[in-house]
Formats: sequence, structure tokens, C-alpha cells
Amino acid sequence: MLSARDQVASLLHLDSSHSGDSVTRELSARFADVWKGRHGTSEYRYRDLFAEPVPPISPAYCALGRRVERNGYVPPAKVDALIENGAEEREWALTLPLIEQFTDAGTVLIGAPMYNFSVPASLKAWIDRVTFPGAYTDPDTGGSLLRGKRIIVVTARGGAYGPGAPREGSISRSRIYVPTSPISASSTTTCSS
Ligand SMILES: Cc1cc2nc3c(=O)[nH]c(=O)nc-3n(C[C@H](O)[C@H](O)[C@H](O)COP(=O)(O)O)c2cc1C
Repeated sequence: MLSARDQVASLLHLDSSHSGDSVTRELSARFADVWKGRHGTSEYRYRDLFAEPVPPISPAYCALGRRVERNGYVPPAKVDALIENGAEEREWALTLPLIEQFTDAGTVLIGAPMYNFSVPASLKAWIDRVTFPGAYTDPDTGGSLLRGKRIIVVTARGGAYGPGAPREGSISRSRIYVPTSPISASSTTTCSS
């Protein structure tokens, strides 16, 4: 894992739009370009979750997650010891690199269009994997290992929800969740297309 100093200047950039003419891709790319101009490209990581999908979680993932939860705070490095079969091993091999990449990034930039009042399936698959039980909890203190991480969500929606619109207020409670905290965080940009 990266040191705290390196984390400051590392960016994990995720896009999840399924559209060929995407607003969120354009906006997240603008952010990334500015970031790369300031910090260079050596600590820049990009994943297009539509083009390079994260496989949906399976029964083996759920079984392993439940077993880990029953054992209290198990850090990712010790999950191997709780794996009981090949299916769980495969699930963990798909999951651990995502957890490490998320943990290592000082800033996480997520392009997250609104699809049916939620996020695209491509992004949901990533969220389901990185939220593996206990992965971001310090086993010694119970505190969050994500403290200090910046998460920026660039979102776009097609509908109107402002004052006077038929669906006024219907998304006021909508939130996207990532491990331990909502990502409707600091620099969220909303753009109605
Ligand atoms: C499958 C699908 C579901 C959508 N659901 C909603 C919705 O619930 N509310 C909304 O305001 N817009 C909805 N939209 C419109 C998108 O949010 C809008 O086109 C936005 O620009 C998508 O971001 P993108 O251009 O980065 O793909 C939906 C679009 C698609 C393709």
C-alpha cells in the first residue's frame, strides 16, 4: 500500500456510463486532465467500469463475507485464512485488488450518471465488491481506514427535479454509498443533461 504522503497525489478515476455520448465521462475527464496537469500521470489510475466490467458478486462472495463478518474485524491480509473452497478463492481474487486500489488512492473520482434513481449496474457491481466487510476498519482501533480520502462524484441526470417540476424533491434523499460513508461528499458536481 502507498504511504500517506504518496496517497495525497494519487487519483483513481472511475467512469460508469453505458452511453456513447456521456456527460459524466466528459466532466470526469476534465477533472482528471486538471489533476494530471498538476500531479503528473505516474499515480493516475483509470478504469472504465463499462468497458472493463467488474463481475457481479456471487453466492461464494456472500458466504465468504458473512464468515468474515462473524470473525469481527478481519483485515484483507487475513481473509485468505478464512477461505473454504475454490469458488471463494476466485471471488476473493476478483475483490482484493479493487479494495487495495481503492484504499491506496488519495482521491477517488467517480463518474456516476443517474440511472433509474440509482447508479448504472457497472458502478453498482464495483460498489458491491469494494464494500467487503471490514476492509476499511482498523482492527486495532475500530476506526475508519478511509479517513482523509477525498471522493468526488461527478453525476448527471436527464430529469428535472427542481422547484415546480412534477418530480420536485423526489431525489432529495438519494445518495450513493461507499464503504463507511456517503459519497455525496465535498466536491460533488451535478449536471442535468
Ligand atoms: C437506463 C437509464 C436510466 C435513466 N434513469 C434516469 C432517472 O431515473 N432520472 C433521471 O433524471 N435521468 C435518468 N436517465 C438519464 C441520464 O441520467 C442522463 O442521460 C445522463 O446524462 C446520463 O449520464 P451520462 O450522459 O454520463 O451517461 C437515465 C438514462 C438511462 C440510459
